[in-house]
Amino acid sequence: MAEVARVGRADRLRGELRLPGDKSISHRALMLAALATGESRIDGAGDGADVRSTAGVVRALGAVVERIPEDGRNVGYRVVSPGADGLVEPDGTLDCGNSGTSLRLLAGLLAGLPLTCVLDGDASLRRRPVARIIEPLRSMGAVLHARRNDSLPPLTVVGHTPLRSIDIATPVPSAQVKSAILLAGLRADGGTTVRESVATRDHTERMLRARGVPVEREETADGRVAVTVEGGVSVQTVQERVPGDVSAAAFWLVAGAIHPDAELTLRDVGVNPTRRAVVDLLRAMGADIEERPHRDGPDDGVGEPIADLVVRSSELHAIELGPRDVAAAIDEIPVLCLAAAVARGTTVIRGAGELRHKESDRIAGIADGLRALGARVRVDGDDLAIDGGVALQGGHADSLDDHRLAMTFAIAGLVAGSVTTIARPGSAAVSYPGFFDDLERVRA
Ligand code: S3P
Repeated sequence: MAEVARVGRADRLRGELRLPGDKSISHRALMLAALATGESRIDGAGDGADVRSTAGVVRALGAVVERIPEDGRNVGYRVVSPGADGLVEPDGTLDCGNSGTSLRLLAGLLAGLPLTCVLDGDASLRRRPVARIIEPLRSMGAVLHARRNDSLPPLTVVGHTPLRSIDIATPVPSAQVKSAILLAGLRADGGTTVRESVATRDHTERMLRARGVPVEREETADGRVAVTVEGGVSVQTVQERVPGDVSAAAFWLVAGAIHPDAELTLRDVGVNPTRRAVVDLLRAMGADIEERPHRDGPDDGVGEPIADLVVRSSELHAIELGPRDVAAAIDEIPVLCLAAAVARGTTVIRGAGELRHKESDRIAGIADGLRALGARVRVDGDDLAIDGGVALQGGHADSLDDHRLAMTFAIAGLVAGSVTTIARPGSAAVSYPGFFDDLERVRA
């Protein structure tokens, strides 16, 4: 893709979109297929670069991973694995590319196997913190080392079988940290419990249960969660279809809501309660989003609720978001900032510090990029205040090579007065191959 993308204002937005398969679920499906002995089938997996990285690692560990092309956004996988005890030590480093989810979850998966592996990735991944997984996995008996005093990748994992089961509270609300510990817990000598002060996405829990592993989840009235996985139980193979990625849908939900003449239909979107916050936050801002749940039941056979979403032009107003909202909509905060820039009133987002540890420093990146397009954004430590009600004028925004920033600025371009240019737009393909094609299609 060109080094700069140009997006002009759209007169109207219409159409029906099928999104890439959920990235979080696609990663987990491949990893759990590696642990299960025999043939697993995953349909509708997202075909972004991140999920391809996980597929490459699973292959390097000795599983047969066959790609079955679907529609350019999605791909099917047939994985035939020798099972957890048959995986082999790779010849080289395991390349996780740009994907923090690959690196952190695989560290947990490898911690309980008798292998020595080095997980590495691109320049952005080498800036992502790993102490948060090193500490709990060490306390289970694995040996882990990383660069800069055990804080940054590459990450070496010397696995140990069996691991010690632990009962641990996560230092930050992070589904990646929780999932790394749960995957290690599969190879521990008893029940491993992870406690969270704020509930994060629960795909790992659902997917383990669907594969025959007992997982208990207790939630208290104040929103705290304790998840316990039973060690020593084999993961079973399954066949599944991955729902559409709600984090990808978020771009179109915002596009439809902020554009004055829009109606967009998003098919087969995963609306898991721990992932759907963006839908509910946009509705709280006044977005006209209709939800049509799939008729064949609450979970459509894959353990995940699915719906079609229809979004229409809306009059948005400001809301206040706190740290719980940030954790619940962690990947959608950038595009919610765009909605806030257009909404009437001042939107305040408090406690967004985790955004600094994503593919880029997303607080700085979204503030600089939206300001360059005419928005009024103030940053105070880990808090953001966005004075809305402006007509975005367009301009030049830098994606910092971060997929979610690239797509957010492209959506801004659909409503801005003059042309918007976006530096380094190719990163969109990390989670959403075909995003810029869809952008052209919905212009009607
Ligand atoms: C993910 C969890 C989130 C999210 C990431 C995917 C996952 O990271 O930002 O894109 O699949 O578990 P954290 O859990 O570290 O916040």
